[in-house]
Amino acid sequence: MPQPLAGRMMGMEKTLIRRINDLADPSCINLGLGELRFPTPRAVLDHVRENVNSWRLGYSPNEGFPELRELIAARAGEGVSPDQVCVTVGAEEALLAALMVLVEAGDEVLIPDPGFPAYPSLVRLAGGEPKAYPLLPEDDFGLRAEKLMGLVTDKTRAVIINSPNNPTGAVHSSKELHTLARGLQSLPLTVISDEVYRDIVFGEPAASFAGLTDRCVTVNSLSKSHSMAGWRIGWCVAPPDIAKAVRTFHQLAVMCVPSLSQYAAIHALRGFADQELRANLEELRKRRDFAMACVDRYTGFPYVAPAGTFYLFVDVSGRLAKFDSSLDAALKLLAGEKVVTIPGRAFGRIGEGYLRISFAPGLDTLEEGIRRIGRFFRG
Ligand SMILES: Cc1ncc(COP(=O)(O)O)c(C=O)c1O
Repeated sequence: MPQPLAGRMMGMEKTLIRRINDLADPSCINLGLGELRFPTPRAVLDHVRENVNSWRLGYSPNEGFPELRELIAARAGEGVSPDQVCVTVGAEEALLAALMVLVEAGDEVLIPDPGFPAYPSLVRLAGGEPKAYPLLPEDDFGLRAEKLMGLVTDKTRAVIINSPNNPTGAVHSSKELHTLARGLQSLPLTVISDEVYRDIVFGEPAASFAGLTDRCVTVNSLSKSHSMAGWRIGWCVAPPDIAKAVRTFHQLAVMCVPSLSQYAAIHALRGFADQELRANLEELRKRRDFAMACVDRYTGFPYVAPAGTFYLFVDVSGRLAKFDSSLDAALKLLAGEKVVTIPGRAFGRIGEGYLRISFAPGLDTLEEGIRRIGRFFRG
């Protein structure tokens, strides 16, 4: 008889985003992936090409090269020490590491709904219980600190916040973040602030949670900000005791992040790619405006204009009567029109009735994809 798997894997699956993308073939129009389509910035690639032969590509210090940690600490704010930084395999490892060192069996972790689909699974892997806090369409999906605090119990060990938010594109207001920080300051819990989309904003800069409370872990990466998802460079910045534990977890789990990626990250964070990144952001703004115009023209579906990220969270609830759910509609849309979208249910209960459309692809792809979505729901 085969050995049963460990209980912690019971009910665990790849996220719905991955499963839907796995069903797509290359002929599909993919509005599903959470990845920018811009290449790695040229300045970073040139730097790697020119220098790779002179670099020692062995293990790096477990927590990352000192120079890289210095750059990250400097970006994190005044008085942050490089010792508070751990370089991780993307933001995903930073999230898992933070949860693993903070959460005991049975502890509750508040997560956003709608929110990044990995959050509940990562919390469960760490032994905790995910508990959703709602981000509502009537609040433009913005954080309401008082409502969130009403869900804190004596079992709550961590609160995950994500601004700009995947999948809604909402940027939480500085006022709400300050209210949250004040409300949580005296409680024995940590805020894990996932800021991977912080540089992808179209209006006012997105406020960081860093420094607002003593117990805050900020998580970030180069995946979205620098279109460097495959280099797997992420990090967290944490209070010294948490940072120390995260580094231990990280050493045991992965030893260190590939040295080559870290050299590339140093160059990226020194600002050599910034001009190209500004141009990318302008292009993304064009794609956002175009995608919204296409949704208006071809579907008439409501949505809240995203202030950040590269997602449009489109309300298809008025056309779901003939489907079992947003998942059913997304699967039939894929089968019938060959368009990949992510059903809102993947992001939580409140996401049901929505589809997430990525506007990372080029204009022609966006127009054809959204035109087909309109045809599918009218048909
Ligand atoms: C909100 C959010 N957090 C974290 C991640 C993981 O990013 P990384 O590629 O840095 O691991 C993603 C990826 O889509 C994301 O959307």
